[in-house]
Amino acid sequence: MKARDEKFKSSVGYQIYPKSFKDTDGNGVGDINGIIEKLPYLNDLGIDFIWLNPVYQSPQVDGGYDISDFYAIDEMFGSLDDLKKLIEKAHEYDIKLIMDLVVNHTSDKHPWFVESKKSKDNPYHDYYHWVDASPEKMPNNWQSFFGGSAWTYDENLEQAYFHCFAKEQPDLNWKNPKMREDIYKMIRWWLDLGIDGFRLDAISHIQKENWDFEIKSPHGNDPWEPFMNVSGIEEYMSDIKAIFDEYGALTVGEASGVQSHQAPDWTDENGYINMIFELEHNWKKSDDPNNKIYIKGYKDIIMRWQKDMLERGWNALYIENHDNPRSIDTFGDGTLDSAKALAVHYMLLRGTPFIYQGQEIGIGNFPFTDINQIDVPDSHNYYNKLIEEGDTPEEAIKKAGLTSRDNSRTPMQWSDEKEAGFTDGKPWLAVNPSYLEINAQAMLADPNSLTNLYKKLINLRHENEVIVNGDVKFFNKGDKNTIVYRRKLDDKKILVIANLSPEKQKLALEKNFKGYEELDLGQEIQREFTKKMILDPWEYRVYIKGN
Ligand code: GLC
Repeated sequence: MKARDEKFKSSVGYQIYPKSFKDTDGNGVGDINGIIEKLPYLNDLGIDFIWLNPVYQSPQVDGGYDISDFYAIDEMFGSLDDLKKLIEKAHEYDIKLIMDLVVNHTSDKHPWFVESKKSKDNPYHDYYHWVDASPEKMPNNWQSFFGGSAWTYDENLEQAYFHCFAKEQPDLNWKNPKMREDIYKMIRWWLDLGIDGFRLDAISHIQKENWDFEIKSPHGNDPWEPFMNVSGIEEYMSDIKAIFDEYGALTVGEASGVQSHQAPDWTDENGYINMIFELEHNWKKSDDPNNKIYIKGYKDIIMRWQKDMLERGWNALYIENHDNPRSIDTFGDGTLDSAKALAVHYMLLRGTPFIYQGQEIGIGNFPFTDINQIDVPDSHNYYNKLIEEGDTPEEAIKKAGLTSRDNSRTPMQWSDEKEAGFTDGKPWLAVNPSYLEINAQAMLADPNSLTNLYKKLINLRHENEVIVNGDVKFFNKGDKNTIVYRRKLDDKKILVIANLSPEKQKLALEKNFKGYEELDLGQEIQREFTKKMILDPWEYRVYIKGN
């Protein structure tokens, strides 16, 4: 067992959605060579590791999260040799590479599933969850995350198989020790190849309740209760952890259903993984027609996770990823000023921040006008449901467009050239028309740009241990639109103030912070700290005290 490397705590991650990062062969889809080409950009940003979304062989029903061969790179991204080269080149820059570990399910085209469908006595049948059923009667009423029943019937076997995502993503049966051994072998294979670790996809769903488990509110808040961090998962997670420990792997879990008070057990020095993404924070008011994050709800959740992980455990911090619309539009009001306040308020919290490609240049949501501009299956399901319920196509695309995961999957905007410098061909998903102004080249050239602010924030984390290991205390907790916290380590203190709203906010701080000096984060005017302040829209201030 290798000693745990604590470096992840002072690191900053950068998430790459490979299909949309950089295309070098003109097929309109990003590729591994494109990532290699952009390593100098990432190095200049100052990030420490890359989380690479799936590049495995896949029919791409769910953006690569439907894997048909765990050991192969999908042709459209390049080859295994390209990936080895990426690892090597990234390491030359001292940048680590972690990949998605998708082991809750496979693609229905995976040879295991193809075999499992052949007959009930096929050796792979029990690699998945098959239960006797009829077209009229599924084994239970559980719902999939992507809408509709979690079961799909197979006429030949007169059984149904279980899938918590799309029907093309059958869930693996973790109760089967043979299946587990195959997965463990695969995990080792990738670590032996030289990757530095994993982002564990949908890992909290690998254990299910018994099929007769009754959901308390099937249409209510948590219809997914029977496969959210269900007891029994501990055994599987401990097995996986033992492998991670052997290699000293860098690991982050997507583990919805793990509550903030349980997260320390998952992520402290004896935990299964280094850190965890909470999924609660995407707090929206259901009656908000614009699908905006409700800042007070968000703030309460962040304060709770910060508090619950103060003594033990570690948060993975993020405001954007490939599964949500762009933060500048959901949290912010579409302006770069809002993106800056968002950047400052989360990058200095306790935990390891992740930046999602394009977030650092301020790409916003896509102005979808037609469902055919969208690729992801869940948006199509949602759109069809709205149409069935009586919405016009215009109404339905407005709602499906606002919530679509494809908002964040449009190509990275490198420059103001054709297709934003992403490809010489036709991009697989249209480039956001904002690229003439919003692009990496323009952002890097402007010293006070959002991108340069991210660079400063990354640097600040690297140079101030207080941001890494200091504790965190929130003030004015009841304020709806402002967030105020202090990081503290011995005598060194950092105070962060951010107005997360497009209106001026009165701030009457409950504590006077004396002897603090403002840090220059590129604002036009400096402002001395006072106990009472009227904050401009999206104003942020960071003050520092001590050595
Ligand atoms: C995770 C991924 C998401 C994917 C799902 C199924 O939530 O982030 O993109 O659709 O798992 O694998």
